[in-house]
Amino acid sequence: MDKLSIVGNGPLRGEVRASGAKNAALPILCAALLSAEPLVLENLPHLRDVSTMLELLRQMGASADQDATQLALTVPQVSQAVAPYEMVKTMRASILVLGPLLARCGEARVSLPGGCAIGMRPVDQHIKGLEAMGAEIRLEHGYIHAVARRLRGARIVFDMVTVTGTENLMMAACLAQGETILENAAREPEVGDLADCLNAMGAQVRGAGTDTIVIAGVPALRGARHRIMPDRIETGTFLVAAAATRGEITVTGTRAQALDAVLEKLREAGAEVNVAPDQIHLKAGKPLRAVNVRTAPYPAFPTDMQAQFMALNAIAAGTAVMTETIFENRLMHVQELRRLGADIEVEGNTAVVKGVARLTGARVMATDLRASASLVIAGLVAEGETQIERIYHLDRGYEAIEQKLAGLGASIRRIT
Ligand code: UD1
Repeated sequence: MDKLSIVGNGPLRGEVRASGAKNAALPILCAALLSAEPLVLENLPHLRDVSTMLELLRQMGASADQDATQLALTVPQVSQAVAPYEMVKTMRASILVLGPLLARCGEARVSLPGGCAIGMRPVDQHIKGLEAMGAEIRLEHGYIHAVARRLRGARIVFDMVTVTGTENLMMAACLAQGETILENAAREPEVGDLADCLNAMGAQVRGAGTDTIVIAGVPALRGARHRIMPDRIETGTFLVAAAATRGEITVTGTRAQALDAVLEKLREAGAEVNVAPDQIHLKAGKPLRAVNVRTAPYPAFPTDMQAQFMALNAIAAGTAVMTETIFENRLMHVQELRRLGADIEVEGNTAVVKGVARLTGARVMATDLRASASLVIAGLVAEGETQIERIYHLDRGYEAIEQKLAGLGASIRRIT
């Protein structure tokens, strides 16, 4: 299994380009199931989760034609409307095929995702929504088996804000009969990116980006071309890494307005942050201050940036209270950060981080995607060598991370 070796060697400096967003790419790939015509995608990131999703779609009859700049995905006919256990267990986002498959084929069998490292993560809202749209759903042999000759529009109020739940129902509603209204919908920018792609395919989706999304069903969708939005979490990760090392970087090809809450916290920590529409410049000359963080749905502070900020708080002046409100078990990086010398106490879903003067390199283990990113940041500021094991988590969601960090001056290499 691959490992990463990082030797803390001072500030990151230079320019790095943001890749396409993983969390926009995954639902948008599934949108190809809604049409028999090609969906051409630009700015698709090279990630393990994207390859896994493409493999799943190929099993269903998709053909993919990829060159250096774009991918054309065509599903002339769905050969089997099934997402097997082997695929869903490696990537929970496979649940995103449920809505499109049901809308296109009238039937779908998708393995029920189990718990995952960061919590229970049920899919009851996806199921409840599809039932409201007329689907008959049975849970049998570990699978969600859904049948509906044609889905019909409905008004659905989510019990909690769910990103993939909103996306699944939005896709299903595109081919339903009549109008669907999603209330308490997720406002994450990736939901908006999916809506833009669906509308380019001929769908009628209004209100994405607000908490009420209205979808007027149409009989069929056509082919389209779409450019995947930049990855705001990857962008945020590089900015936090630069701040923690007291460096100065520019992230290009990004979208600053999708990162308001994160940029605000970086400023509060003492970094200078300047934005242009498609780039962000950060300089951290002064010592950093600890910043309190409370995760919540967009536009508040994202749970996917919590672990990275914990690495920053670990070496900032003062004490930070960090509360995770989205997932019940998303503080697993704490024990590993402690191995590097961080002073962190956990009570329930809250971590109290007392800044220390220095971290020292050690061998640590990545437990999930964003936890891995926090260990990379901690490794960049620690004295001596940090070795991170199980970095397959990192490869799921960060494109060429070691090359990008090396380009900013980090001493980082992959050990295979
Ligand atoms: C998405 C993101 C993930 C991010 C998360 C929260 C993708 C592919 N993944 O995950 O990176 O961390 O949003 O921003 O976009 N819930 C239920 N029932 C449901 C659905 C969700 O109880 O049917 C709960 C979850 O357990 C969790 C909360 O709602 O506590 C939010 O989860 P959700 O927004 O659905 O996360 P994902 O869409 O899986």
